[in-house]
Amino acid sequence: GDTCSMAPESRFDCARDRLLSRGECAERGCCYDPLPGSAGPPWCFYPSLYPGYEMGPLTPTPRGEEASLTRAIPSHLPGDITSLQLEVSEETAGCFHLTLKDPSSPRYEVKLPPGVPQRKTADKDVLFSTEYQSDPFGFIMRRKSNGRVIVNTTVAPLLFADQYLQMSTALASPHVSGLGEHYSSLLLDLNWTSLTLWNRDMAPHADANLYGSHPFYIVQEQDGLAHGVFLLNSNAIEVVLQPTPALTWVAIGGVLDLYVFLGPDPRSVIRQYLRVIGYPMMPPYWSLGFHLCRWGYTTTATTRRVAQRMRNATFPMDVQWNDLDYANKDRVFTFDPWRFGDLPEMVEEFHKSGMKYILILDPGISSTSPPGTYFPFDDGLRRDVFIKNATGHILIGKVWPGPTAFPDFTNPETGRWWEDCIREFHSKVPVDGLWIDMNEPASFVQGSSEGCPDGDLENPPYTPRVVGGKLNSGTLCMSAQQKLSTHYNLHNMYGLTEACATHSALVKVREKRPFVLSRSSFPGIGRFSAVWTGDVRSDWEQLRYSIPAVLRFGLFGVPLVGADICGFGGNTNEELCVRWMQLGAFYPFMRNHNDKSNAPQEPYVFGQKAQAAMRSALNLRYSLLPFLYTLFHHAHTAAATVARPLFMEFPSDENCRAIDRQFLWGSSLLISPVLERGAVELAAYLPSGTWYSLHNGQPFYSKGQYLLLPAPLDTINAHVREGHIIPQQEPALTSTASRRNPFFLTVALSTGGWAWGDLFWDDGDTLNTFEGGNYCYVIFTAGQSQVVSDPTRLNGALDGLVLGGLQVFGVPSPPLYVLANGRKVWDFTYRSDTKLLTVTNIALPMSEVFTVQWA
Ligand code: GLC
Repeated sequence: GDTCSMAPESRFDCARDRLLSRGECAERGCCYDPLPGSAGPPWCFYPSLYPGYEMGPLTPTPRGEEASLTRAIPSHLPGDITSLQLEVSEETAGCFHLTLKDPSSPRYEVKLPPGVPQRKTADKDVLFSTEYQSDPFGFIMRRKSNGRVIVNTTVAPLLFADQYLQMSTALASPHVSGLGEHYSSLLLDLNWTSLTLWNRDMAPHADANLYGSHPFYIVQEQDGLAHGVFLLNSNAIEVVLQPTPALTWVAIGGVLDLYVFLGPDPRSVIRQYLRVIGYPMMPPYWSLGFHLCRWGYTTTATTRRVAQRMRNATFPMDVQWNDLDYANKDRVFTFDPWRFGDLPEMVEEFHKSGMKYILILDPGISSTSPPGTYFPFDDGLRRDVFIKNATGHILIGKVWPGPTAFPDFTNPETGRWWEDCIREFHSKVPVDGLWIDMNEPASFVQGSSEGCPDGDLENPPYTPRVVGGKLNSGTLCMSAQQKLSTHYNLHNMYGLTEACATHSALVKVREKRPFVLSRSSFPGIGRFSAVWTGDVRSDWEQLRYSIPAVLRFGLFGVPLVGADICGFGGNTNEELCVRWMQLGAFYPFMRNHNDKSNAPQEPYVFGQKAQAAMRSALNLRYSLLPFLYTLFHHAHTAAATVARPLFMEFPSDENCRAIDRQFLWGSSLLISPVLERGAVELAAYLPSGTWYSLHNGQPFYSKGQYLLLPAPLDTINAHVREGHIIPQQEPALTSTASRRNPFFLTVALSTGGWAWGDLFWDDGDTLNTFEGGNYCYVIFTAGQSQVVSDPTRLNGALDGLVLGGLQVFGVPSPPLYVLANGRKVWDFTYRSDTKLLTVTNIALPMSEVFTVQWA
């Protein structure tokens, strides 16, 4: 009939669970209309106004409104929940919150780690309006300012059964990003794509659920506006995107807990999202330096030699790492007495040379050491911290050390036991941070060493498309018991709960700002941890896709993120590794890491030209650390992104929508890396305005266009946006040393001759400096041929530090003289071809107001 005559791209699948015949489809009351080909639009699809829930009257509550929903006709699903409680509230002017729950029996609900500060905005006019369709239930949300439909769930039925929750919405535009963790471009493909969110130890490749789950997307609307949607649900989720454009959430447990963020601009969307899940932590300064790691540094002698060779070859580096090699029989919290017997001394030596040290910590605790010989397991048993199987015995899986038990970080006692293990180990090996790997959690046997019991958790009525075909592939049994709930419900939060426990253990043990690097992730992890993108292959395609991966984590509130530079899996090669070090110099988290069996890829193993290129990339990064640190301050205090997609900064420039081969640091530095083998030039998009080459100040006056830029092997293109001032420091071999060097400013004048910039500064290591007011903040402004500093807050951290010079881009004519704090400066040069003024050898105290003038 008429109700079946929608366009193929607007069909919503009525047979997601299995292939249905015409007859079976009709039994569900759905439309059947075969199309050529097997992919694409469904053959069996919902008619319009398919019966679902009927909504009762809306009644006011203290925080919003509520209504009950009832289903008269059962769906085809087992375990329909026939009455639901709808609650809606307006959290802030730009944030709408909707929950659908079972009022008669409580179901599992996600609880994010406590302590997200309430950052309410002053009540303004709400940005949205809502309408409800009562039979079948659905709702429509519009943007008030222009009437645009942001969410419309009436396009397909709502399903809510015990192990199957489904809600669809039309999308306001086809420009959708988010829904990690997947190997994909920044803009998602809407051509009948299915994305599964189920944390899995899996080397990044297309069409696979990877290490983390982030049920959040952001939509770029037509006119520079944006909105975001977050489904707070930790069960396995499948998201289906179709070209209508529309999106369908399928979650196989929990409740529907949906947030809509109205922006109206992309930055506000991310801020509104992070108000719910938490703003990112402030990283220690040293963690922004270069990190060097590999699997296969088999002794302390080897590890020392690596660091020494880096130093001898004058490559800046802050942190030496060890992978599992250090551990005695791969058991965490031990170190091998023969190969790593003097590990404590080695770490002390690193510390004396201004470096830091990190090692890996897998969650799996070896369960087969003779009793009394491995304290973490013995003590864990005593304190009952391990995940149990369905029959109440400790679940045993298999990881690197062989059979292992898995700590249940939803149990508060586990947090205390973990802290004790870390404290005890730290008292011998004073690590500066911890690398928590394999925390999906990964296991090399399916479910457990004894398999898993049959049942609805192991084999739910509907299993989203996951790598391995089963939810327990590569992980624990779904029926495993944790303190808060079943592993079926908590699986996606394992890494988050471990990161939270590790972060707070490090705070207590070290009493300094902690550094944790996690592989698995879930919303909110940015409060506790950095994330890396796992076992990327050493090839050009993986290099290229590392950019959208890093940018997406920024949208997810995890600004401290990077990919394994030069690639983890397979052998790298010199050219690839140079280009990767150059791009990696602009990952917020910069670590070169390599798999055990591969050719080495430390910078010093390559030819002199390659080494020079890598050294200059490293020096460039180190010179930019004050700027990068300031960006992290804004991430921590204002939910700004660090590595930023162009669309966030130029939302009304349509050319920026899909760009994910270039990105920005903050709002002022545009990075355009080479991502192709053999390329020595690249077409880079420069949004409208003047951009100056960071390397030589050469200006480009862009109308919003692609420009062909030279990019010989020794160069990564970086452009400073007009109107911005970037605080820098002379580089050094560690950030400990570079932090004492003179600062310099890169001033990129606007056409009118103005610019602005800032610097956040503290000791880089103390906890809660911003919260306690224990920091410096300096604003720099340029205009009318002068640069002026304004230290709006000082705590002594800048004492003794000086401004050594500056480069001013876009000075129209040669100055006759330069004055620093009113005194004539002799060391300045001007180039009329690039309009670059360089001033050196001034020594103006950073903790005082200064002025540099030219005329
Ligand atoms: C996992 C990690 C990798 C690490 C290896 C050995 O594959 O992703 O980074 O080197 O385990 O610990």
